Amino acid sequence: MDQGVSGRMWKKRFFAGAWVAYFCIAVSFLFMTALSLNANEAQEVPEEIVINNEVYKTDRKGSVQFSHSEHVEGYVDACDACHHEYKDGQNVWEEGQPVQKCSACHDPLKRDGNVRKLNIAYHKNCKGCHRELAREGGTEAPYRQCTDCHAKR
Ligand code: HEC
Ligand code: HEC
Ligand code: HEC
Ligand code: HEC
Repeated sequence: MDQGVSGRMWKKRFFAGAWVAYFCIAVSFLFMTALSLNANEAQEVPEEIVINNEVYKTDRKGSVQFSHSEHVEGYVDACDACHHEYKDGQNVWEEGQPVQKCSACHDPLKRDGNVRKLNIAYHKNCKGCHRELAREGGTEAPYRQCTDCHAKR
């Protein structure tokens, strides 16, 4: 066998192989970008949420197990009972728009004008609705016992 020829052949094959590899990598990058864009478009609605922000000055209470899907499908009619984005005092958030974490706007350490501290916002939202319902009667939504929401520890 002629060493020179097979050497060149090898080189040719190697470069052809390299191009194929580059091509595959490029395609998979495109694919991944498309996937992540897609994920942004259709944000998954969580079923169960463990609310356990580790951003407070002190973390005095246990985490809160929140049945998002029970609330969404059974207890509460509208997403905007809990999700909002205010413009000129009006909630302009609509179902289908991206949902941000409460902590994106509610600072855990300080109140900012109308925007309450994170734990106060949660208590107003969760306990507020439960208390209202209890007043009307006929529901078991917890608002008095801390451990009805906060895990014991
Ligand atoms: C209806 C549900 C509910 C009830 C009842 C409730 N909480 Fe909370 N609480 C929450 C949620 C949700 C948060 C936000 C937790 C987070 O951000 O990690 C929170 C946060 C807190 C925080 C700040 C986070 C931390 O761990 O330090 C404190 C303190 C707290 N609650 C105290 C209480 C006390 C005291 C009671 C009883 C008097 C109580 N809560 C009752 C839902 C509830
Ligand atoms: C009773 C209150 C409540 C209702 C009603 C509700 N949600 Fe939520 N949702 C929450 C809470 C609390 C979170 C957790 C937020 C956090 O982690 O800061 C959440 C989280 C989410 C998230 C994930 C956000 C993220 O980045 O983690 C999506 C998406 C979402 N909700 C969509 C919906 C949709 C769609 C509806 C109506 C069909 C709805 N929610 C109704 C309270 C509610
Ligand atoms: C995009 C920013 C933003 C996000 C995300 C957000 N909030 Fe708010 N929230 C606000 C602003 C701004 C106000 C004050 C509205 C006003 O009164 O002008 C407010 C007001 C509230 C109030 C009324 C408080 C009162 O004074 O009675 C509650 C309760 C509340 N938010 C709870 C939540 C909860 C729970 C979440 C997460 C599920 C959440 N917020 C997510 C911006 C946000
Ligand atoms: C707009 C009203 C509303 C809001 C806001 C709300 N809830 Fe509820 N919640 C209900 C109703 C209705 C029930 C069912 C009561 C019954 O079983 O009779 C319930 C039940 C519960 C229960 C007991 C049953 C179960 O599914 O676990 C927990 C715990 C609870 N909610 C936690 C929360 C927390 C935490 C938040 C705030 C992040 C919250 N809720 C916000 C209406 C609300």
